[in-house]
Amino acid sequence: MCGIFGFTTENAKNAGEVLIDGLSSLEYRGYDSAGIFTPESGAVKAVGPASHLKRKMPAGFFGRSGIAHLRWATHGEPTEENAHPHTDCEGEVWLVHNGIVENFKELKTKLAAAGHTFASQTDTEIIAHLVEEHLKTEPDFAKAAIAAINEIRGTYGIAMQYRADPSKIVVARMGSPVVIGIGEHERFVASDPSPILRHTRDVVYLEDGEVAILTPESHEIYKLHGAPVERAAERIEWDAAAAQRGGYEHFMLKEIMEEADAVRNTSLGRLIEKEGMVKLGGLESVEEKLKQVKRIILVACGTASYAALAGEYMIEEHARIPVEVDIASEFRYRTPVINDDTAVVAVSQSGETLDTLEAIREGKRRGALTLGIVNAVGSTIARETDAGVYLHAGPEISVASTKAYVSQLTALALFTLFLGRQRGVSIEEGRVIAEALKALPERIEEIYKRTKDIQRIAKKYADARDFLFIGRKYNLATAFEGALKLKETSYVHAEGCGAGEMKHGHLAMIDEHFPTVAIAPSDSVYEKTASNIQEIRTRKGPVIAIATDGNEEIKELANDVMYIPKTIDMLTPILAVVPLHLFAYYFARQKGINVDRPRNLAKSVTVE
Ligand code: F6R
Repeated sequence: MCGIFGFTTENAKNAGEVLIDGLSSLEYRGYDSAGIFTPESGAVKAVGPASHLKRKMPAGFFGRSGIAHLRWATHGEPTEENAHPHTDCEGEVWLVHNGIVENFKELKTKLAAAGHTFASQTDTEIIAHLVEEHLKTEPDFAKAAIAAINEIRGTYGIAMQYRADPSKIVVARMGSPVVIGIGEHERFVASDPSPILRHTRDVVYLEDGEVAILTPESHEIYKLHGAPVERAAERIEWDAAAAQRGGYEHFMLKEIMEEADAVRNTSLGRLIEKEGMVKLGGLESVEEKLKQVKRIILVACGTASYAALAGEYMIEEHARIPVEVDIASEFRYRTPVINDDTAVVAVSQSGETLDTLEAIREGKRRGALTLGIVNAVGSTIARETDAGVYLHAGPEISVASTKAYVSQLTALALFTLFLGRQRGVSIEEGRVIAEALKALPERIEEIYKRTKDIQRIAKKYADARDFLFIGRKYNLATAFEGALKLKETSYVHAEGCGAGEMKHGHLAMIDEHFPTVAIAPSDSVYEKTASNIQEIRTRKGPVIAIATDGNEEIKELANDVMYIPKTIDMLTPILAVVPLHLFAYYFARQKGINVDRPRNLAKSVTVE
């Protein structure tokens, strides 16, 4: 996830100030590097957030139009060369991009053969060269730009300029948000309305597969293939701070509502459904080594360690490699047995958690292959591991991790398929997993439609001071994660426990005031979990069940049910956790807690 911003105006403006100002309200979308361009004053880029760029800005950075970008790195390290805006060979075409060009390798090869040279490792730069190529036969900038956009596959929110036509900005959208602001004799473009609201409240949202040509007086919208689109402007009534959260009251809720996209982006360009395969570019360099690995240790902390637990079950069941999960802070000090046929894999959103980092260093010292399943590109864990898989979930701001968790589970499922196909998983089995992964984002969107029910259930249990969460097999992890999310956002007592383990102690706590959340999808262990629910009801404990659509019987067993759509067993934790994240959010909100900043906690734990 990156942030883009741009403007074109008839009014005198200090372009540098307007662009930096715009970026500062998009900072939640990325902060690896920032850059701006105006046809009159050129480009400035800096590593780090918009404030670093501001310090580098020369005085008098003027212009009546310009584009700007905040980067959340996907392809290429967060360096100045890789920072946007990117340009063509002659420095004539400039653009900013939020998304991933999936076919960038084939386009790059074609462009290189035509004589283009590249200044960065990014997928984005390809687009500028493609436009340059089209300008050789099509002198109209907008037409050349649209022809180039038609050649790229993947996701994008793009804003593009041409020095020879400085008042024009060509924008395009496919999977990454783009909103156009309509002012008097001026037009704006951004990834969300927050930077536009300082200038105008009238906006038009671009839809997937649409392009727009902006000048100070007009914004023409077209379908990618050329048909014109008529769309009336909408008036935004929110304030700028709410706009930064996309209109949501908290980042936590916004990020839960981004879980479908996070899962989509983790799989994007990696699934080859027909062949029942995945393509994980980050593991190419260690592919042969991975074939020799005899044991995997997943190291992580907190929520990431629960994703790792589900990952252990996925890999063992499907790829048949022995896996263990180690809490990173334990691993460091318990003298584990590691040798050169062990892979130590760190799972981390931030890529900076000190214990996880030290666990990786420990693994390396003992000769293991080290891998990172990490969200933050260029983070220390990403840099220090031998290879890895990026999550591409976009920046996570809320302290309580939500969308990174579903992305971690998705990346571990991809990793499972990758390892499995190396070790005898058939094309058919691979296809079933790949197709189920592909369908997940839409299944999550189904769950969003049921938010009101979840909110109602959270309200019903508002007075409870204790909760037990139970789950089995793949959803033991979901039980731990559901309990942790409730604890950290609501400060109530919540415990996660294996449903079968409950009888060995936890059951003693149960009475009519102690509700249990039972994760009971229709999977291979459903019957067992259903009888555990029965045991709780016999002790008068109220039960909220997470169950699969179509399971009517569970309504007789549980007091309340949150339904999830069907998927294959190993992917059920990705769906089952969504209602639990929403439940934790709405439960905490009733208490008036600022869920984005739970007391005593920090987003990234860089101390022991
Ligand atoms: C809980 C939470 C934490 C993190 C843990 C690891 O909601 O966010 O438990 O999961 O601190 O952080 P990363 O994934 O950045 O290593």
